[in-house]
Amino acid sequence: MILSPSMLSSDFANMESELTALKKAGLKWVHLDVMDGQFVPNITFGPPIIKAMRAKSDLFFDCHLMISEPGRYIRDFAEAGADLICVHAEACDHLERVCSQIAEAGAKPAVALNPHTPLDVLRYLIPQLSMVLIMSVNPGFGGQTFIPFCMSKVRELKAMITAAGSDTLIQVDGGVTLDNARALVEAGADVLVSGSAFFGHPPYDARHRAFQDACT
Ligand code: DX5
Ligand code: ZN
Repeated sequence: MILSPSMLSSDFANMESELTALKKAGLKWVHLDVMDGQFVPNITFGPPIIKAMRAKSDLFFDCHLMISEPGRYIRDFAEAGADLICVHAEACDHLERVCSQIAEAGAKPAVALNPHTPLDVLRYLIPQLSMVLIMSVNPGFGGQTFIPFCMSKVRELKAMITAAGSDTLIQVDGGVTLDNARALVEAGADVLVSGSAFFGHPPYDARHRAFQDACT
């Protein structure tokens, strides 16, 4: 299991030390939540902040774009240093084109689905995706409660990916805790995002270990 701590719950005034602490705690990925106040009712940060973080960290930047029409900004996020760019299916009129743009810009393409969005929208795209993100809360805020039907959605997505013969990763984001991490991995999750259940419980090395232990 790859744990991708969501910087949304980190100390925004001390991002450099947060990134350094994650690296020291053995984390490989970090989850960066970009919000535009339109696709979701909250605003966070964009390419300039990611570029500044990139200068201070070599962690894998897992960028979750909760913005309308993300195709307008793919190049900006790739140039800022995003390793993976995840767009919402609900935010794109031409999702295949946006995924191709991500790959052409040199980043790994991924698609996120809101809790109510059926998996079928990804049926033809799975082979070209590095990752699918299953939102297990309605996007916009940290600290929300996991929506139970998302567990079977992960299981169904795993079956779809296996049937397609693809190595697409499954990420789960929202309300992930030590209590549901194991069940999510058993259902097929490869990458777990954790905001409040991670940053709210330092030290990070012990918390990272606790998540890994919960899944084995
Ligand atoms: C929510 C974001 C999440 C958020 C998760 O819209 O996409 O990444 O930070 O926070 P927790 O783990 O607290 O639910
Ligand atoms: Zn996220």
